[in-house]
Amino acid sequence: MQDQPTLDSIRVDREAPAHVPKDRIVDLSFAMGGVPNDLVDPYEPFEWLAGPEIPRLLYNMPSKQAMGGFSGGNGNWVATHYEDIDRIYTDNEYFSNTGAAEFQRLIGESFRSIPLGVDPPEHSKYRMYLMPYFSPARISRDLEPGIRAVVVEMIEAAREKGEVDMAWDFARVYPVRIFMALMGFPPEMFEQFLDWEWDILHSNSIEKMQGALRGVLAFLRGFMAEKEKNPDEHLVSSIVNGKIQGRAPTEEEKIGMVWFLWLGGLDTVAATIAQMFRRMALEPQIQRQLRANPELINGAVEEFLRTQPILSSARHAHKDFEWHGMQIKKGDSFSCLNPAGNFDPARFENPRVFDPTRKANRHFTFIGGVHACLGAHLARRELRLLLEEWFKRIPEFRVKPGADTSVFPGLLSIRNLPLVWD
Ligand code: HEM
Repeated sequence: MQDQPTLDSIRVDREAPAHVPKDRIVDLSFAMGGVPNDLVDPYEPFEWLAGPEIPRLLYNMPSKQAMGGFSGGNGNWVATHYEDIDRIYTDNEYFSNTGAAEFQRLIGESFRSIPLGVDPPEHSKYRMYLMPYFSPARISRDLEPGIRAVVVEMIEAAREKGEVDMAWDFARVYPVRIFMALMGFPPEMFEQFLDWEWDILHSNSIEKMQGALRGVLAFLRGFMAEKEKNPDEHLVSSIVNGKIQGRAPTEEEKIGMVWFLWLGGLDTVAATIAQMFRRMALEPQIQRQLRANPELINGAVEEFLRTQPILSSARHAHKDFEWHGMQIKKGDSFSCLNPAGNFDPARFENPRVFDPTRKANRHFTFIGGVHACLGAHLARRELRLLLEEWFKRIPEFRVKPGADTSVFPGLLSIRNLPLVWD
């Protein structure tokens, strides 16, 4: 068990904007997924941030070192309680997501990341445009048979081998295969896509990010042009050849949608799977419970999602206002610490307990409000089918002796997770 930090231990004496009281300035980089730990429940260290003794808004000023050498900028407000996070995601009058995930600005591109970086009411036209491809009915009809075939094939390969690196050889590959088939991308781009994505999200190097952005955007534009000439039944083709409210999408809209789907769809499920299997390997009673009661698998997927929120989302203030006694200025950034909100004792009974029978499990792993994850149904389906097929084929498993089980509780998560069974 690691020492739990206290509010005093995370307070820092750093220069923040003048309207931020000194006693709210903290360094929360330990809670942002950058610091690994080896706990069975790796998000445990953040639960206290949702407790009653923590002020209802903190102000995070991470050190330059924690930002991988980048400046921490002006810092940002951090919401750690369920009720406050919920307001930020749903109160579109006060909170904006304009400009979110616009990595493309690093190479001088000005198109928006759609739909994530677009506020209501404009957001809804893009959401309506993309939503039919991600509906539960569409997933059941068009995607589920293919997903099941891929997952069965991969589990069978693991069974034959008698062990598997669940993070590298399984979690990294399975959802990306599904995603590439959905979009219609050529399978041979697999390693290249993952390399680009790694450089954009995790390299902490401006040069690498810029190189990867140039590579992926050139590829996506060429691929889109090809689909305009030779349409097919896959999603990129539908996006570039469809009609938004009766008109053809502009070039900026097309690349904005295809690019953001590429970014959002690639390694989120992978990170979740690796953490899910690590938890089951370290806590085998969860495996036993699900194996004996497969009807609990749906609830278990939701509980794995709640207890492993791989992302914390950001917003900024639309206008000046007062909240919890703090003066908020137009443009101030907010970070919603989903790993704290998902364990808020005011919202979840016994929040640390993994309970697949939990009712009304409205967690923030897919956030909430208009930008709630568009791929959530697909992600849930991939996770459910994996568990269903896995328990039919693989007996109780454990981490291979000697393997490193430390985890970055975030998108990076786990690079290798060798599992073995008898
Ligand atoms: C377990 C897997 C996943 C997790 C945890 C996850 C998480 C999230 C989160 C937290 C957001 C909101 C971001 C924000 O507001 O700042 C989001 C939005 C989004 N996600 Fe996911 N995601 C997952 C899988 C996927 C997949 C597989 C796809 C697509 C194939 C996808 C597509 C999107 C899109 C398009 C949005 C933007 C929605 C909008 O702005 O209306 N996600 N996701």
